[in-house]
Amino acid sequence: MKKIIVTGATGLLGRTLMQVLAQSHTVIGTGFSRAKAPIEQLDLNQETAIVNFLDKHQPDVLIHAAAERKPDICENDHQATIALNVKAAEFLANQCKARKIHFVFISTDYVFDGKSAPYLENSSHSPVNFYGQSKAQAEQAILSNSARHTIIRVPVLYGEVEYLAESAVTVIAQQILAQSNSKHDDWAIRFPTHVEDIALTLHALLQQPESSISGIFHISDNQSMTKYDMAKHIAHAVGRDPEDLVSIPEPTQSAMRPYNCALKDTRLAALNIQFTRDFADAIKQVLTPHLAQ
Ligand SMILES: NC(=O)c1ccc[n+]([C@@H]2O[C@H](COP(=O)([O-])OP(=O)(O)OC[C@H]3O[C@@H](n4cnc5c(N)ncnc54)[C@H](OP(=O)(O)O)[C@@H]3O)[C@@H](O)[C@H]2O)c1
Repeated sequence: MKKIIVTGATGLLGRTLMQVLAQSHTVIGTGFSRAKAPIEQLDLNQETAIVNFLDKHQPDVLIHAAAERKPDICENDHQATIALNVKAAEFLANQCKARKIHFVFISTDYVFDGKSAPYLENSSHSPVNFYGQSKAQAEQAILSNSARHTIIRVPVLYGEVEYLAESAVTVIAQQILAQSNSKHDDWAIRFPTHVEDIALTLHALLQQPESSISGIFHISDNQSMTKYDMAKHIAHAVGRDPEDLVSIPEPTQSAMRPYNCALKDTRLAALNIQFTRDFADAIKQVLTPHLAQ
C-alpha cells in the first residue's frame, strides 16, 4: 500500500483516480475552487503552500492531474496557463525529486500536430495550440529534471460528470438536447477514453517496480471517431434521431486543433496492461443519471 497524492482530485479524471486508487492505497486528493473535505484545498500557484503540504503528508507517489485543459481558455490567457500547466508542474517535479517521491504527470495527445498519426511514446512534440505547447513544455521540464518521473499522455476523456458541459464528450448531449439538428465536427479524429480505464491502467502501472515505469506512457482507447460519430451514439442514448444531426466536415473550434493524434501504447502492450470499453454502452451509462433529472 502506497500513500498517493492526487492533484486535480475535484476534476473529471481526478475524481475517478481517487475512487480507483483508494481500493489499494491511501489517497489524499487536492482541489482548488471545488475542494471540500476530505479533498484538501491547495493552490498550485503558491509554492510555499505546496512545500508545506508535502512536508505534512510525505507521500510515496504524486499524480499531478490538475491543469487548465480547455484550449480556448489557454489561448486567451497565456500567463495563467504557463503558471499552472508549466511552472506548477515543474515545481512539483523538482520537489518530488528532492523528496524521492515518484512523480506522475498527466499529459495530452495535443502535444502532437495530428498530421502523422499514430504517435509513439518517443515521437517528437509538434503542438498546434497554446494548450499543447504548455503541456509539451511541462513534459520537457519534467523529463530533464529526473529520468525517474512518469509522463502519461491521454486523449479526450469522458466519464461521470457533475454537469453535461464538464467534458468535451458529454457536452455533445447538451447540444443535442437543446437542438435536435445540432451541428458537429466531422473532421478531427478522436479516441474518446473513459476516465475509469485511465485510472485502472494507472493502478496497474503502480503495481510495477518504479524503475520500470519511468518515462512516457500512452493510454488510449482504440475506437476512432469524430465528434459527429460520437454525437450519433449520444443521440441514440438520449432518445433523439441521429439522422437529424448535421455533419460539419471542417474544423469548427476557435483555437487550432490537431487532426488525428492517435496514441500508440507500445509500452502498455509490452506490459500486457489494457483496459478498454465500448463507447456506445459506456456513454449511455454516463448520460443516464443526467436524463433522469
Ligand atoms: N479532459 C480531457 O479530455 C483531457 C484530455 C487530455 C488530457 N487531459 C489532461 O488530464 C488532466 C485532468 O484533466 P481533467 O479533465 O480532469 O481536468 P478538469 O476536470 O478541468 O479539472 C482540473 C483540475 O485542476 C484543478 N485546478 C485548477 N486550477 C488549480 C489551481 N490553481 N490549483 C490547484 N488546482 C487547480 C481543478 O480544481 P477545482 O475544480 O477544484 O478548481 C480541477 O481539480 C489534465 O492534466 C489535462 O491536461 C484531459
